Amino acid sequence: MAPLLPALLLASSLLSIPSQARILFPFEQRQLTKEYIASLSEEDQALFGFDDELSTLAVNTTDKRCRFGPADGKWPAEKAWAKFSKQLSTDSALIKTTPQASVCYGTAKDDAKCQDLTKSWNNSYTHIDDPTEVLSPIYQGLTCQPPSIYNSGSCTLGGYPSYVVKAADVLDIQLGINFARNGYLRLIVKNTGHDFGGKSTGAGALSIWTHGLKDIQFLDNYADGSYKGPAVKAGAGVQAFDLYKAANGKGLVVVGGEGQTVGIMGGYIQGGGHSPLSSLYGMAADHVLGFEVVTPTGEFLTANSTSNPDLFFALRGGGGGTFGVVTSVTIKAFKDLPVTAASWSFDSTKLTKDKFWAAAKAVLDRSTDYVDSGVYTYFIVAPGATGKDFTFTMQPFFAPNKTTAGLNTILAPLQSQLTALNIPFSPKITEYKGFYPAWQAEFSLETQSDVQTAFGSRLFPRSNFASETGRNVTFSALRQTVEAGMPIIGFNLAPTLARGGNPDNAVNPAWRTAVLHAITGQRWDVKASASDIRAARTSFTNGTMKRWRDVTPGSGSYLNEADRLEPNWQQSFWGDKYAKLAQIKKEWDPKDVFWAANAVGSEGWVVESVDGLPNENGKLCKVNGTKTAVVEKDKFIRVV
Ligand SMILES: Cc1cc2nc3c(=O)[nH]c(=O)nc-3n(C[C@H](O)[C@H](O)[C@H](O)COP(=O)(O)OP(=O)(O)OC[C@H]3O[C@@H](n4cnc5c(N)ncnc54)[C@H](O)[C@@H]3O)c2cc1C
Ligand SMILES: *[C@@H]1O[C@H](CO)[C@@H](O)[C@H](O)[C@H]1NC(C)=O
Ligand SMILES: *[C@@H]1O[C@H](CO)[C@@H](O)[C@H](O)[C@H]1NC(C)=O
Ligand SMILES: *[C@@H]1O[C@H](CO)[C@@H](O)[C@H](O)[C@H]1NC(C)=O
Ligand SMILES: *[C@@H]1O[C@H](CO)[C@@H](O)[C@H](O)[C@H]1NC(C)=O
Ligand SMILES: *[C@@H]1O[C@H](CO)[C@@H](O)[C@H](O)[C@H]1NC(C)=O
Ligand SMILES: *[C@@H]1O[C@H](CO)[C@@H](O)[C@H](O)[C@H]1NC(C)=O
Ligand SMILES: *[C@@H]1O[C@H](CO)[C@@H](O)[C@H](O)[C@H]1NC(C)=O
Repeated sequence: MAPLLPALLLASSLLSIPSQARILFPFEQRQLTKEYIASLSEEDQALFGFDDELSTLAVNTTDKRCRFGPADGKWPAEKAWAKFSKQLSTDSALIKTTPQASVCYGTAKDDAKCQDLTKSWNNSYTHIDDPTEVLSPIYQGLTCQPPSIYNSGSCTLGGYPSYVVKAADVLDIQLGINFARNGYLRLIVKNTGHDFGGKSTGAGALSIWTHGLKDIQFLDNYADGSYKGPAVKAGAGVQAFDLYKAANGKGLVVVGGEGQTVGIMGGYIQGGGHSPLSSLYGMAADHVLGFEVVTPTGEFLTANSTSNPDLFFALRGGGGGTFGVVTSVTIKAFKDLPVTAASWSFDSTKLTKDKFWAAAKAVLDRSTDYVDSGVYTYFIVAPGATGKDFTFTMQPFFAPNKTTAGLNTILAPLQSQLTALNIPFSPKITEYKGFYPAWQAEFSLETQSDVQTAFGSRLFPRSNFASETGRNVTFSALRQTVEAGMPIIGFNLAPTLARGGNPDNAVNPAWRTAVLHAITGQRWDVKASASDIRAARTSFTNGTMKRWRDVTPGSGSYLNEADRLEPNWQQSFWGDKYAKLAQIKKEWDPKDVFWAANAVGSEGWVVESVDGLPNENGKLCKVNGTKTAVVEKDKFIRVV
């Protein structure tokens, strides 16, 4: 067989002749070059140089147990920060963190400003458009919130990063990565801050903020393998509302999130990305044609089917903040389609409790039928204020490519069952000409910034709904959660590409058999002590969520909307793809320049939080209990 090998290799390389030239946005054309680094003084080369040309500072292992923080002697001097600032695209690109709510405390106190801020605190834009704020502030450590929302007592940086690079070009990102890596600093990436687990914040870190990278370009005839058709290349900062609007202008749709403000080309798509179009088109990551990315060494390259295919695999579902900083993503676009949506609700105070649960069960029992018709649902089952009454709100039951008649056909069996149960059912049905107006009208802006809740989620497989016993067991687990006082946010979808199979990417295999993704949350008193919070979280993760896991053995959870304390998260988020992902992480980032909680390859480090709670308010340090991790790190330290 040996002589055949070169011929085979030749044939496959001929097949994969690059289809198009590298297309870069203007902001991607401004790059850091090796020639420029070579022109710097030795001292500056040590600050800004790429990994491969560096004789790193010889720091001993003991010193390197934790990433250097502002209180350490090894933290860059003011002079080094000033030099860093000078290298960046503009004078204002380097931002020293000032938490927004500092206007509520201490010397910066300004009552009027604090009051205004408090009023807009539950508006997600307040946080998204800020360099350091995140939408799940419990993971920042709640060290600077408006006092009427959470009394922090004072305003300290806590789990906020120390500095932010407001990235305007690839050069800024390369400099940021190099400066952090060379200085042994913690590095984080923030786009919108939507992450459920605090992955876009971190104490003492240098943050790269990608929110401003908003370029969008349509490519009419993209060719890659069997795909020939329209594509859109979008900057890392592009959000759902930007992208859908632009696509609509071209008579196209793209697979993106339901959430209005989610950063589609950041954590969303790198984590997989579920979409109102998922039951027709699969996950958002399934449609990526290529990424432009700055890697942990500072190098800027393309990851697509023919260039760096292993990185391309990992970036499509392997999670954000792990393999590099993506600067833009090129995805397939599709012809726009009409949409019909329905919405309805049930209320136990109007129906009686038995009828209420019968109605909710009738809806959920048909999960498989909906998704097989291309439908995506978004529903909430919630206890009322007293915990004794319940509401079920379907908003929306989203049917792309369906007319009212088509939607009524899908709902007919439900309608007749509810009629037989004597439960009134008259959904509000609206037909839309295209995806954009349907999405705008049907999905409302979700509020975030909850200071007293931990969330978790589970993917419920098709097999759970295949038998009456399965449906009963599944429903009981969900009902029990709501009766215990916790709301459920549910999504029916089947992100399996009906035509052409599922692409070979890093999307959680559990998604491919799922027909329901459900989220719930455990709330605690706003004044709860750290030990009360720990107890609440244990009862949530090992109680409530265990009951969901018990009825879905072998399935998993969606990493982008998961419990930060998810047990066995490697299996849960990536199933049998984890080993390959961990290998890719090791190859591309052997120094763990990128680290995020429960990200691929994150096992060797832990945030030593000041209050012992799972959050980002503490130093990022090597796990010293496990021998293998320490040995591995020792090895790399000797190498540099
Ligand atoms: C209100 C709301 C609605 C949501 N709706 C949906 C939905 O419809 N469908 C769905 O699938 N999910 C949804 N999510 C979950 C969402 O996908 C995740 O929160 C996701 O992490 C958001 O990515 P981001 O870049 O906007 O957020 P960020 O918090 O800024 O980033 C998330 C993670 O990605 C990393 N990251 C961001 N940008 C880059 C980059 N350019 N390169 C490398 N790493 C990067 C960050 O470091 C972090 O680890 C929603 C979340 C919220 C809060
Ligand atoms: C992958 O990227 C390279 C470099 O940008 C490019 O030359 C090539 O055409 C791309 N491959 C495909 C299939 O588009
Ligand atoms: C390593 O660092 C520790 C802590 O700062 C110090 O005590 C020790 O002497 C150093 N070892 C060497 C070989 O420099
Ligand atoms: C935000 O909170 C205020 C009360 O502080 C409330 O009136 C308002 O409805 C909330 N806004 C949203 C979008 O939930
Ligand atoms: C939409 O429906 C039409 C027929 O009504 C069908 O030909 C087309 O393939 C459907 N589109 C998708 C994306 O399913
Ligand atoms: C399922 O639950 C219903 C009540 O909701 C009950 O009537 C039925 O007997 C149960 N079936 C099985 C197989 O457990
Ligand atoms: C859940 O239980 C396991 C095993 O006892 C334990 O290791 C873990 O810390 C618990 N999780 C939480 C959130 O308490
Ligand atoms: C591990 O780190 C902890 C916290 O810093 C420290 O107390 C402990 O002694 C360390 N253990 C070992 C074996 O180094």
